[in-house]
Amino acid sequence: MTQNIAIFISGRGSNMAALIEAAQDSELDARVALVVSNKPDAAGLEKATAAGIETLVVPSKGKSREAFEQEVERHLIREQIDLICLAGFMRVLSAGFVGRWESKILNIHPSLLPSFPGLHVHEQALSAGVAVSGCSVHWVTAELDSGPIVGQAVVPVSAIESADDLAERIQQAEHPLYAACLRRVLGGKPKTETTDQYLLCVL
Ligand code: GRF
Repeated sequence: MTQNIAIFISGRGSNMAALIEAAQDSELDARVALVVSNKPDAAGLEKATAAGIETLVVPSKGKSREAFEQEVERHLIREQIDLICLAGFMRVLSAGFVGRWESKILNIHPSLLPSFPGLHVHEQALSAGVAVSGCSVHWVTAELDSGPIVGQAVVPVSAIESADDLAERIQQAEHPLYAACLRRVLGGKPKTETTDQYLLCVL
């Protein structure tokens, strides 16, 4: 049966766009039914509309976590959503919400978890002096950035680069990683792929 996907964003939505493209892959029995943003000015909203995807804006500012989630959830149920993909969604979900959607929420984080959870990830990586960083797609649990990992992409770190440069290089690996993880979760095969920029491994 076709799986209905909702993507949650707060900003640019480049991972969202990669997931929309992956879901349009004819081998996947999935469709992106809804893009949800907690920011009315998120640039990703326009991209979603241009791709013909329904969007929902629920401003989180000035709302309790519960009120925000209740409103979003009404739409998720109405759209019969099976899977939620967080893609640059900058709001922590409550334990109650995560519990109700257990094993149905994926997230992408721009580090090799369990290293560097939370914010200022690239600054943390550079000041730790790591030789490699990367990105991880994982299931969302009540504890931030710590659920089971679906796949990771490894990106070499140059000692002289800035956090912004590293962020940009990691983003290039995020898009194929998230798409490959979505395929895997929907029943596709494990995948390993090496390019000059990254090594991608989906479990
Ligand atoms: C990505 O770096 C992702 O890892 C993090 O937020 C960023 C979102 O970027 N969670 P975009 O909105 O998908 O372009």
